[in-house]
Amino acid sequence: MTSPSNNPSSQELFDAQAHVWNFIFNYLNSMSLKCAIQLGIPDIIHKHGKPMSLDQLVDALSIDKSKSRCVYRLMRILTHSKFFVEEEEEEEARYSLTLASRLLLKDEPLSIAPFALAMMDPILIEPCHHVSEWFQSNDEISCPFVTKYGMGFFEYARNKERWNKVFNEGMASDARFVNSLLIREYKQVFEGLDSIVDVGGGTGAAAKAIVSAFPGLKCTVLELPHVIAGLEGTDNLNFVGGDMFNFIPHAHAVFFKWIFHDWTDEECIKILEKCKEAITSGDNKTDGKVIIVEIVVDDQKENQKATETQLLFDMLMMIEVTGKERTEKEWANLFFSAGFSNYKITPVLGLRSIIEVFP
Ligand SMILES: C[S@@+](CC[C@H](N)C(=O)[O-])C[C@H]1O[C@@H](n2cnc3c(N)ncnc32)[C@H](O)[C@@H]1O
Repeated sequence: MTSPSNNPSSQELFDAQAHVWNFIFNYLNSMSLKCAIQLGIPDIIHKHGKPMSLDQLVDALSIDKSKSRCVYRLMRILTHSKFFVEEEEEEEARYSLTLASRLLLKDEPLSIAPFALAMMDPILIEPCHHVSEWFQSNDEISCPFVTKYGMGFFEYARNKERWNKVFNEGMASDARFVNSLLIREYKQVFEGLDSIVDVGGGTGAAAKAIVSAFPGLKCTVLELPHVIAGLEGTDNLNFVGGDMFNFIPHAHAVFFKWIFHDWTDEECIKILEKCKEAITSGDNKTDGKVIIVEIVVDDQKENQKATETQLLFDMLMMIEVTGKERTEKEWANLFFSAGFSNYKITPVLGLRSIIEVFP
């Protein structure tokens, strides 16, 4: 990276201004996508079964014709950002889906629409307006979420029924998505196991995917009571209300998806120590392990977009909770501090990896 010249050309100044503008207005990308999901535009185009014209889309949306031009403008930005494809047919633009918008279909098994809506909910966006205030506050407020709401993320979810539901549905949709790909790409991670605990396993979406792929495996979901209230287990799936900082049930393996990034290093080490007890106590198992699905930040990666998304997630963790996204070195430090002897990272989940940790 070269430092800026002291006498920039007009073009350099315009480029710098364009860079600033792009950042200022970037939130409108997210908000346009949110609007399209809320209106059900991907679902409408999908149900149509072939590329759909603007008039057909406006009719199907049942919105006033006077807003047609605005629907066109919404579709134009989302086509530009590769959520839709626009083709010319009989001199009329027609829209079809891309793989990205197919993931936003509401009734598809791999839909991540609930995750997208949860992440773009005002509950998560509001604390983003309090980051500098949080930095400048003298008291030990743990994160901007607490600056805004006066309580931590999981306590807030316990107190707010709507948000608890939106967040849990969002997490469940991500769990269905990632676990079905985990089983497709790296099934062997669960092979040979007879029992597993999914710690902080939400409403059991990941656990259901695991037991349906491995019917002989007994799975326990350990969760906060307000998350699993009213949920019934089955023969090989069981829900336990509890606090992972106090107790993790004994099992052959302990599974964590998106847990450690919510917590500080000290808190992660405490959880990992409880895990070590859980997999080494009981039937003298010697081949127990911890299975983690999380980001391993790699800022040397050539794929700049992937690194940027990982760093955005890291900011989210700083703003909403007290956690962070970790590099391999930071992960290794946690594992060895908690008394584990070895680990293996398998990067087969896109932006996230599978990390196996051995006692
Ligand atoms: C980011 S969510 C991940 C949910 C799920 N593992 C997934 O990825 O779909 C974190 C989960 O940890 C749970 N959790 C938070 N504190 C916990 C605690 N002390 N004991 C057990 N679960 C906890 C939350 O209720 C929430 O469901």
